[in-house]
Amino acid sequence: MKKLILALSFFAIPFLLFAQQKSTEVKLYKNKNASIQDRINDLLKRMTIEEKAGQLNQLNGGNFTGPAANDAGQKAKMQMVREGKVGSFLNVTGAIETKAAQKVAVEESRLGIPLLFAFDVIHGYKTIFPIPLAEACSWDIPQIEKNSSIAAKEAAAAGLHWTFAPMCDISNDPRWGRVMEGAGEDTYYGAVVAAARVKGLQGNLNDDAHILSTVKHFAVYGAVEAGREYNNVDVSRFSLWNKYLPPYKAAIDAGAATVMNSFNVFEGVPASGNKYLVKDVLLNKWKFKGFVVSDWSSFSEMINHGYAANGKDAAYKAISAGSMMDMESKVMIENLPQLVKEGKISIQEVDNAVQRILYYKFKLGLFDEPYKFSDEQREAATELSKENRAEARKAADASIVLLKNDHHALPISSSIKKIALIGYYAKSKEDLFDFWIANGSANDAITIYDGLKNKYGNAIEYSQGYNADATTNDELINAAVQSASSSDIVLVNIGISGKMAGEDRALAYPEIPESQIQLLKALQKTGKPIVALVSSGRPLILTKIQLLVSSIVQCWILGTETGNAVADVLSGDYNPSAKTVMSFPYAIGQIPVYYNHFNTNRPLPTDNDGNWYSRYRDIPNAPLFPFGFGLSYTNYEYSNLQINKTAIRSSDELIVKVTVANSGKFDGEEIVQLYIRDVTASLIRPVKELKSFQKIKLKAAEVKEVIFKLTSKDLSFYDSNGILHLEPGAFKVFVGGNSEHVLEKDFIVQ
Ligand code: NOJ
Repeated sequence: MKKLILALSFFAIPFLLFAQQKSTEVKLYKNKNASIQDRINDLLKRMTIEEKAGQLNQLNGGNFTGPAANDAGQKAKMQMVREGKVGSFLNVTGAIETKAAQKVAVEESRLGIPLLFAFDVIHGYKTIFPIPLAEACSWDIPQIEKNSSIAAKEAAAAGLHWTFAPMCDISNDPRWGRVMEGAGEDTYYGAVVAAARVKGLQGNLNDDAHILSTVKHFAVYGAVEAGREYNNVDVSRFSLWNKYLPPYKAAIDAGAATVMNSFNVFEGVPASGNKYLVKDVLLNKWKFKGFVVSDWSSFSEMINHGYAANGKDAAYKAISAGSMMDMESKVMIENLPQLVKEGKISIQEVDNAVQRILYYKFKLGLFDEPYKFSDEQREAATELSKENRAEARKAADASIVLLKNDHHALPISSSIKKIALIGYYAKSKEDLFDFWIANGSANDAITIYDGLKNKYGNAIEYSQGYNADATTNDELINAAVQSASSSDIVLVNIGISGKMAGEDRALAYPEIPESQIQLLKALQKTGKPIVALVSSGRPLILTKIQLLVSSIVQCWILGTETGNAVADVLSGDYNPSAKTVMSFPYAIGQIPVYYNHFNTNRPLPTDNDGNWYSRYRDIPNAPLFPFGFGLSYTNYEYSNLQINKTAIRSSDELIVKVTVANSGKFDGEEIVQLYIRDVTASLIRPVKELKSFQKIKLKAAEVKEVIFKLTSKDLSFYDSNGILHLEPGAFKVFVGGNSEHVLEKDFIVQ
């Protein structure tokens, strides 16, 4: 018996010791003190190919608690999480929902890898800021960064780790509903804004108030033909490098964690499967270290493009091109393990993609504190806070562009007794917001009507003027005319519903509806000063209406504080300072119209006259309002443009000085813009290119000297291989308050 016990203990003791050791062993990837790289390597060793494919799988989430918990589809998604087959969800939001889903991933999956929660937080999460296009018109880079950081803070408190912003697509086409999401038509400015948005969203990614950003849509999605969403793109590498890529690159240089493939093709190959764009440019040339996510189903949609034969082929083509995470088309999860088993895709290729995603999960601290972003208390305290609303109002004030102001109709004089406010949209919460409002609610927003009532109380008399569907009738027009006739000033909110801005909102007629023109014509007859408050997510064609009104205030879509901001500007409490970052076309047939076009072989003379020039016979070549244009209640005068040298070497800096005087009666802020032109080059250059700007404060009667420095980089351009060149020869430098009216000087690069 003794012998038996001895023999048993002989075997049992080491076994027990081993078992004990096993249970207390801390897996390296769970060890907080190990380096991220060691943790990733450890995890990769433990993961099956199915689990690796799972990390590349992003699904549309939805709700998982409450009644949704019993939904078969939702249950199936949770089962996939348990099996390690989901790396990320989009559209799961709120501390409660994100925590519930995260718990399953962390506690019930084999390796406990946390999920990443992504959402389109485009211009605010709960506190909605002006649409990105409007915000960009402020040219206030610190404010733009702050707006993004507030959006990130609110989103982070609601459990989100990642937003699909900023959109860095350059576009010249107001028919495209998504111009609202960008920073307008200029490449240089687009790059500056993109970098600011990334910094605001991400900070250093070392707290619980910042989230991952996404550079999208890579690449050239802004060039969709005829402005139609999801349409074809056909641009040259020359345009790709000079016009389209710099904003994406600036965002990546600012540290953007992720890049989204675009839906379009480039050189006949869908962006998701485009090796030149993803591997050659993004990963190899730019050395992008983050991860690439598809756009919604853009991997499987390569089948529709006629580029992939089936889901397996799509997965193969996507990953071979360097693309990584699959948003919602499920071709990775369904095919990657097989592709690896067949030797078509190497495990290194898969590991390369997976480790980039794991990196950000570690970087955000999710392996150590998986619920750190899902904090109900912080969520309640952060969302729509007083401070956030105050910043949204500042941002909205600075986004409103004054396009016309004859006879100083604005600001509204303090002696005014009665103000007619006309327009269905002015009171409609339904039409106030665009498509991309994250979890914002128009119920929390101040309409134009509310804002003006706050400011002017009973002096406001409202009438509808037109219907929800933008039609009108005699009754509505007569009531508006009657109200206008007995008022001192008439404010008419025209434009198009906010709902018409965003994805899948292409318009063939980006115009003021005919019924609103009819209304304005009737109002004009009253002889009262008429102010058009234009609401739209894009520049509309204002050619007809500008003749009918004294003032045009471009209100865009301004977010939660819309009405207060409009009242700030109309009353003069805020002196408008914004300048449009997209040209306002004169007519639809002119689109695309943009300031930085090429000269052509037959440039139209400045007197707009003569034959055999590149011109229209029925309209001018110039837009109605050019890039960089916007008025103020004061006037700024530019004089004394100077450069320090008329000939520079490529290593020299050119110093440019100009005097700007506030010659009016109001204090204000002016956006001083510097453009250049490379007159002759081996690849033609635009007639003007923005290269610098400063937003300066000028008190009434104040005069300031503004100094710019230009370096060789500012004077260079890309060839079709993406190599930067500075060529000697003649240049021009221009400075002014918009892209059309400028002072100019010539200089030479030796
Ligand atoms: C499609 C859009 O093109 C993209 O911008 C967006 O981020 C995704 N859908 C996710 O909603």
